[in-house]
Amino acid sequence: MPIIQFKDQNIHCDKQQILLDKLLAAGCSIPFSCRAGLCHSCLMYATAGAPPKAAQQGLNQEQLQNNGFLACQCHPEADLVVRLPCRHQDAMPAIITSVTALNQVVKQVKISPSKLIDYRPGQLIKLSHQGHERTYTLVSHPEQDQELLIHVQRIAGGNVSQWLCESAVAGDTVTLSDLQGDCYYQQTNPHTPLVFIAAEVGLGAMLGIVSDALWHQHRGPILLIHHVPNTADLFLQDTLRELCRQHHQLSYQTIVGSWTADTLNQLTNLQRSHFFFAGATPRIIEYWSTLQQLSIPLAQCSVISFDLEEVSNQAVDILGLSF
Ligand code: FES
Repeated sequence: MPIIQFKDQNIHCDKQQILLDKLLAAGCSIPFSCRAGLCHSCLMYATAGAPPKAAQQGLNQEQLQNNGFLACQCHPEADLVVRLPCRHQDAMPAIITSVTALNQVVKQVKISPSKLIDYRPGQLIKLSHQGHERTYTLVSHPEQDQELLIHVQRIAGGNVSQWLCESAVAGDTVTLSDLQGDCYYQQTNPHTPLVFIAAEVGLGAMLGIVSDALWHQHRGPILLIHHVPNTADLFLQDTLRELCRQHHQLSYQTIVGSWTADTLNQLTNLQRSHFFFAGATPRIIEYWSTLQQLSIPLAQCSVISFDLEEVSNQAVDILGLSF
Protein backbone atom coordinates (compact mmCIF):
# COMPACT_ATOMS: atom_id res chain seq x y z
CA MET A 1 0.00 0.00 0.00
CA PRO A 2 1.46 3.43 -0.94
CA ILE A 3 2.83 5.53 1.92
CA ILE A 4 2.11 9.24 1.81
CA GLN A 5 4.43 11.44 3.82
CA PHE A 6 2.98 14.75 5.01
CA LYS A 7 5.02 16.78 7.50
CA ASP A 8 6.13 14.22 10.10
CA GLN A 9 3.36 11.70 9.41
CA ASN A 10 3.42 8.60 7.23
CA ILE A 11 -0.07 7.74 6.04
CA HIS A 12 -1.03 4.51 4.33
CA CYS A 13 -3.50 5.10 1.51
CA ASP A 14 -4.35 2.69 -1.29
CA LYS A 15 -5.95 3.16 -4.72
CA GLN A 16 -9.43 2.57 -3.34
CA GLN A 17 -9.10 5.43 -0.84
CA ILE A 18 -9.13 9.19 -1.21
CA LEU A 19 -6.02 10.92 0.07
CA LEU A 20 -7.97 13.90 1.44
CA ASP A 21 -10.05 11.57 3.64
CA LYS A 22 -6.99 9.76 4.90
CA LEU A 23 -5.16 13.00 5.71
CA LEU A 24 -8.17 14.42 7.56
CA ALA A 25 -8.68 11.16 9.43
CA ALA A 26 -5.05 11.36 10.52
CA GLY A 27 -5.71 14.79 12.02
CA CYS A 28 -3.94 16.81 9.31
CA SER A 29 -5.29 20.29 8.69
CA ILE A 30 -6.03 20.31 4.97
CA PRO A 31 -8.35 22.94 3.47
CA PHE A 32 -11.18 21.54 1.39
CA SER A 33 -14.62 22.53 0.20
CA CYS A 34 -16.38 20.97 -2.81
CA ARG A 35 -14.73 17.50 -2.73
CA ALA A 36 -15.54 17.32 -6.44
CA GLY A 37 -12.33 18.56 -8.08
CA LEU A 38 -13.79 21.98 -8.83
CA CYS A 39 -12.76 24.52 -6.23
CA HIS A 40 -9.05 23.61 -5.82
CA SER A 41 -9.22 24.32 -2.08
CA CYS A 42 -7.44 21.00 -1.47
CA LEU A 43 -4.54 21.74 -3.83
CA MET A 44 -1.33 20.07 -2.68
CA TYR A 45 2.08 19.46 -4.20
CA ALA A 46 4.13 16.29 -4.42
CA THR A 47 7.79 17.00 -3.60
CA ALA A 48 8.70 13.36 -4.29
CA GLY A 49 6.80 10.83 -6.40
CA ALA A 50 4.31 11.46 -9.20
CA PRO A 51 0.68 12.21 -8.32
CA PRO A 52 -1.98 10.36 -10.35
CA LYS A 53 -2.97 12.17 -13.56
CA ALA A 54 -6.65 11.96 -12.61
CA ALA A 55 -5.92 14.17 -9.60
CA GLN A 56 -4.43 16.89 -11.80
CA GLN A 57 -7.40 17.71 -14.03
CA GLY A 58 -8.08 21.43 -14.37
CA LEU A 59 -4.74 22.55 -12.92
CA ASN A 60 -2.75 25.23 -14.69
CA GLN A 61 0.65 24.81 -16.29
CA GLU A 62 2.59 26.14 -13.30
CA GLN A 63 0.75 23.87 -10.88
CA LEU A 64 1.38 20.86 -13.14
CA GLN A 65 5.07 21.67 -13.50
CA ASN A 66 5.32 21.70 -9.71
CA ASN A 67 3.55 18.34 -9.33
CA GLY A 68 0.33 19.89 -8.06
CA PHE A 69 -2.69 17.69 -7.47
CA LEU A 70 -6.12 17.77 -5.82
CA ALA A 71 -6.22 15.72 -2.63
CA CYS A 72 -9.98 15.12 -2.98
CA GLN A 73 -9.38 13.44 -6.36
CA CYS A 74 -6.22 11.58 -5.41
CA HIS A 75 -6.24 7.77 -5.22
CA PRO A 76 -2.50 7.21 -4.66
CA GLU A 77 -0.79 4.68 -6.89
CA ALA A 78 2.72 5.02 -5.41
CA ASP A 79 4.57 6.57 -2.48
CA LEU A 80 4.41 10.37 -2.32
CA VAL A 81 5.87 13.14 -0.19
CA VAL A 82 3.31 15.94 -0.18
CA ARG A 83 2.99 19.50 1.07
CA LEU A 84 0.43 22.28 1.09
CA PRO A 85 0.90 25.39 -1.10
CA CYS A 86 3.02 28.16 0.44
CA ARG A 87 0.93 30.82 2.09
CA HIS A 88 1.93 34.34 1.16
CA GLN A 89 1.08 36.38 4.19
CA ASP A 90 2.45 36.44 7.69
CA ALA A 91 -0.09 37.11 10.40
CA MET A 92 -0.78 40.80 10.93
CA PRO A 93 -3.18 42.76 13.11
CA ALA A 94 -6.01 44.65 11.41
CA ILE A 95 -8.91 46.85 12.49
CA ILE A 96 -12.52 46.59 11.38
CA THR A 97 -13.59 50.01 10.13
CA SER A 98 -17.24 49.32 9.24
CA VAL A 99 -19.89 46.61 9.05
CA THR A 100 -22.77 47.32 6.65
CA ALA A 101 -25.84 45.22 5.84
CA LEU A 102 -26.21 44.52 2.11
CA ASN A 103 -29.47 42.59 2.55
CA GLN A 104 -31.09 40.71 5.41
CA VAL A 105 -28.34 38.09 5.63
CA VAL A 106 -25.20 39.47 3.98
CA LYS A 107 -22.86 41.98 5.64
CA GLN A 108 -20.04 43.92 4.04
CA VAL A 109 -17.06 44.24 6.37
CA LYS A 110 -14.28 46.77 5.77
CA ILE A 111 -10.92 46.03 7.36
CA SER A 112 -7.83 48.17 7.63
CA PRO A 113 -4.65 46.00 7.75
CA SER A 114 -1.60 47.24 9.63
CA LYS A 115 0.60 46.68 6.55
CA LEU A 116 0.05 46.86 2.80
CA ILE A 117 -1.07 43.52 1.33
CA ASP A 118 -0.24 42.60 -2.25
CA TYR A 119 -3.33 40.68 -3.34
CA ARG A 120 -5.76 40.17 -6.21
CA PRO A 121 -9.57 40.33 -5.90
CA GLY A 122 -10.84 36.77 -5.59
CA GLN A 123 -7.93 35.61 -3.43
CA LEU A 124 -8.58 34.30 0.04
CA ILE A 125 -7.37 35.50 3.40
CA LYS A 126 -7.72 33.95 6.82
CA LEU A 127 -9.38 36.10 9.47
CA SER A 128 -8.90 35.16 13.13
CA HIS A 129 -10.69 36.45 16.18
CA GLN A 130 -10.45 35.15 19.73
CA GLY A 131 -9.15 31.73 18.77
CA HIS A 132 -11.55 31.16 15.87
CA GLU A 133 -10.62 31.51 12.23
CA ARG A 134 -12.27 31.51 8.83
CA THR A 135 -11.14 32.18 5.30
CA TYR A 136 -12.86 34.85 3.23
CA THR A 137 -12.64 35.97 -0.37
CA LEU A 138 -11.27 39.47 -0.92
CA VAL A 139 -13.86 41.58 -2.73
CA SER A 140 -11.88 44.85 -2.72
CA HIS A 141 -9.41 46.01 -5.35
CA PRO A 142 -5.87 46.93 -4.23
CA GLU A 143 -5.63 49.84 -6.67
CA GLN A 144 -9.08 51.25 -5.99
CA ASP A 145 -9.81 50.53 -2.32
CA GLN A 146 -7.73 51.63 0.63
CA GLU A 147 -9.27 49.00 2.86
CA LEU A 148 -9.94 45.31 2.45
CA LEU A 149 -13.55 44.32 1.80
CA ILE A 150 -15.19 40.98 2.51
CA HIS A 151 -18.80 39.83 2.29
CA VAL A 152 -20.02 37.66 5.13
CA GLN A 153 -23.11 35.52 5.54
CA ARG A 154 -23.73 34.01 8.93
CA ILE A 155 -23.26 30.23 8.75
CA ALA A 156 -24.72 27.69 11.14
CA GLY A 157 -22.23 27.13 13.94
CA GLY A 158 -19.69 29.51 12.42
CA ASN A 159 -18.12 31.47 15.28
CA VAL A 160 -16.39 34.03 13.10
CA SER A 161 -19.30 34.70 10.76
CA GLN A 162 -21.68 34.93 13.70
CA TRP A 163 -19.43 37.46 15.42
CA LEU A 164 -18.92 39.49 12.24
CA CYS A 165 -22.64 39.53 11.42
CA GLU A 166 -24.02 40.14 14.89
CA SER A 167 -21.48 41.76 17.18
CA ALA A 168 -18.45 43.20 15.39
CA VAL A 169 -18.20 46.99 15.28
CA ALA A 170 -15.75 49.54 13.94
CA GLY A 171 -12.60 49.51 16.04
CA ASP A 172 -12.60 45.78 16.77
CA THR A 173 -9.30 44.05 16.03
CA VAL A 174 -8.73 40.85 14.06
CA THR A 175 -5.70 39.00 12.72
CA LEU A 176 -5.18 38.39 9.00
CA SER A 177 -2.93 35.69 7.55
CA ASP A 178 -2.48 33.06 4.85
CA LEU A 179 -3.22 34.97 1.66
CA GLN A 180 -3.75 32.33 -1.00
CA GLY A 181 -5.65 31.38 -4.10
CA ASP A 182 -5.36 31.58 -7.86
CA CYS A 183 -8.97 32.23 -8.80
CA TYR A 184 -8.60 35.76 -10.11
CA TYR A 185 -8.59 37.65 -13.39
CA GLN A 186 -5.77 36.54 -15.68
CA GLN A 187 -4.68 38.89 -18.42
CA THR A 188 -3.75 36.16 -20.90
CA ASN A 189 -6.42 37.03 -23.48
CA PRO A 190 -8.27 40.33 -23.00
CA HIS A 191 -10.81 39.41 -25.69
CA THR A 192 -12.06 36.18 -24.09
CA PRO A 193 -15.78 36.37 -23.22
CA LEU A 194 -16.14 36.05 -19.44
CA VAL A 195 -19.21 34.64 -17.70
CA PHE A 196 -19.55 35.02 -13.92
CA ILE A 197 -22.21 33.05 -12.04
CA ALA A 198 -22.71 34.03 -8.40
CA ALA A 199 -24.95 32.18 -5.97
CA GLU A 200 -26.22 34.45 -3.20
CA VAL A 201 -23.31 35.78 -1.09
CA GLY A 202 -20.91 34.58 -3.82
CA LEU A 203 -21.71 37.81 -5.66
CA GLY A 204 -18.98 39.66 -3.75
CA ALA A 205 -16.22 37.36 -4.96
CA MET A 206 -17.47 37.58 -8.55
CA LEU A 207 -17.84 41.35 -8.41
CA GLY A 208 -14.26 41.67 -7.14
CA ILE A 209 -12.94 39.71 -10.12
CA VAL A 210 -15.20 41.60 -12.57
CA SER A 211 -13.84 44.90 -11.20
CA ASP A 212 -10.30 43.63 -11.71
CA ALA A 213 -11.08 42.63 -15.33
CA LEU A 214 -12.49 46.10 -15.98
CA TRP A 215 -9.50 47.72 -14.25
CA HIS A 216 -7.24 45.81 -16.65
CA GLN A 217 -9.40 47.01 -19.55
CA HIS A 218 -10.70 43.61 -20.54
CA ARG A 219 -12.10 43.94 -24.07
CA GLY A 220 -14.33 40.87 -24.37
CA PRO A 221 -17.96 40.75 -23.23
CA ILE A 222 -18.51 40.15 -19.51
CA LEU A 223 -21.76 38.69 -18.20
CA LEU A 224 -22.45 38.63 -14.46
CA ILE A 225 -25.36 36.44 -13.32
CA HIS A 226 -26.59 36.65 -9.73
CA HIS A 227 -28.65 33.60 -8.75
CA VAL A 228 -30.73 33.86 -5.57
CA PRO A 229 -33.71 31.96 -4.09
CA ASN A 230 -35.83 35.09 -3.55
CA THR A 231 -35.87 38.69 -4.72
CA ALA A 232 -35.09 39.80 -1.15
CA ASP A 233 -31.73 38.00 -1.43
CA LEU A 234 -30.50 40.29 -4.20
CA PHE A 235 -28.04 43.03 -3.25
CA LEU A 236 -25.83 45.67 -4.86
CA GLN A 237 -28.27 45.99 -7.76
CA ASP A 238 -27.81 49.76 -8.12
CA THR A 239 -24.03 49.42 -7.98
CA LEU A 240 -24.10 46.77 -10.69
CA ARG A 241 -26.45 48.73 -12.95
CA GLU A 242 -24.22 51.78 -12.62
CA LEU A 243 -21.16 49.66 -13.46
CA CYS A 244 -22.96 48.42 -16.59
CA ARG A 245 -23.69 52.03 -17.59
CA GLN A 246 -20.00 52.84 -17.28
CA HIS A 247 -18.73 49.75 -19.11
CA HIS A 248 -20.55 48.80 -22.30
CA GLN A 249 -19.03 45.29 -22.37
CA LEU A 250 -20.53 44.40 -18.98
CA SER A 251 -24.05 43.06 -18.54
CA TYR A 252 -25.81 41.92 -15.40
CA GLN A 253 -28.70 39.49 -15.02
CA THR A 254 -30.50 37.95 -12.10
CA ILE A 255 -32.02 34.49 -11.77
CA VAL A 256 -34.52 34.23 -8.93
CA GLY A 257 -35.64 30.77 -7.83
CA SER A 258 -34.50 27.53 -9.45
CA TRP A 259 -31.33 27.49 -11.50
CA THR A 260 -31.94 27.54 -15.22
CA ALA A 261 -29.43 27.28 -18.04
CA ASP A 262 -31.56 29.44 -20.36
CA THR A 263 -29.24 32.44 -20.09
CA LEU A 264 -26.20 30.33 -20.93
CA ASN A 265 -27.98 28.58 -23.81
CA GLN A 266 -28.55 31.95 -25.44
CA LEU A 267 -24.88 32.94 -25.40
CA THR A 268 -23.42 32.98 -28.90
CA ASN A 269 -19.82 32.67 -27.69
CA LEU A 270 -20.43 29.96 -25.11
CA GLN A 271 -17.65 27.61 -26.24
CA ARG A 272 -15.04 30.39 -26.23
CA SER A 273 -16.00 31.75 -22.81
CA HIS A 274 -14.18 31.41 -19.53
CA PHE A 275 -16.52 30.76 -16.60
CA PHE A 276 -16.12 31.88 -13.02
CA PHE A 277 -18.59 30.70 -10.42
CA ALA A 278 -18.89 31.22 -6.68
CA GLY A 279 -21.34 29.92 -4.14
CA ALA A 280 -22.20 27.18 -1.69
CA THR A 281 -20.93 23.78 -2.80
CA PRO A 282 -24.33 22.30 -3.88
CA ARG A 283 -24.87 25.30 -6.18
CA ILE A 284 -21.38 24.97 -7.60
CA ILE A 285 -22.03 21.32 -8.43
CA GLU A 286 -25.30 22.37 -10.09
CA TYR A 287 -23.58 24.99 -12.28
CA TRP A 288 -20.78 22.61 -13.17
CA SER A 289 -23.33 19.96 -14.28
CA THR A 290 -24.89 22.51 -16.61
CA LEU A 291 -21.53 23.43 -18.07
CA GLN A 292 -20.65 19.77 -18.54
CA GLN A 293 -23.91 19.27 -20.46
CA LEU A 294 -22.86 22.20 -22.64
CA SER A 295 -19.48 20.49 -23.24
CA ILE A 296 -17.46 23.16 -21.45
CA PRO A 297 -14.15 21.69 -20.20
CA LEU A 298 -13.01 22.16 -16.62
CA ALA A 299 -10.00 24.12 -17.88
CA GLN A 300 -12.42 26.91 -18.86
CA CYS A 301 -13.80 27.21 -15.34
CA SER A 302 -12.60 28.92 -12.17
CA VAL A 303 -14.47 28.16 -8.99
CA ILE A 304 -14.91 29.51 -5.49
CA SER A 305 -17.01 27.24 -3.31
CA PHE A 306 -17.92 27.50 0.35
CA ASP A 307 -19.92 25.76 3.02
CA LEU A 308 -22.99 27.31 4.61
CA GLU A 309 -22.80 24.84 7.46
CA GLU A 310 -19.95 24.12 9.79
CA VAL A 311 -19.01 20.64 8.68
CA SER A 312 -15.68 20.20 10.41
CA ASN A 313 -12.93 22.16 12.04
CA GLN A 314 -11.55 22.73 8.56
CA ALA A 315 -14.84 24.22 7.38
CA VAL A 316 -14.55 27.64 5.87
CA ASP A 317 -16.95 30.46 5.42
CA ILE A 318 -15.65 31.07 1.97
CA LEU A 319 -12.97 29.04 0.32
CA GLY A 320 -12.07 27.79 -3.04
CA LEU A 321 -10.47 28.60 -6.31
CA SER A 322 -8.87 27.41 -9.45
CA PHE A 323 -7.71 28.09 -12.96
S1 FES B 1 -12.17 20.15 -2.25
FE1 FES B 1 -10.86 19.32 -3.71
S2 FES B 1 -11.26 20.53 -5.47
FE2 FES B 1 -12.72 21.25 -4.04
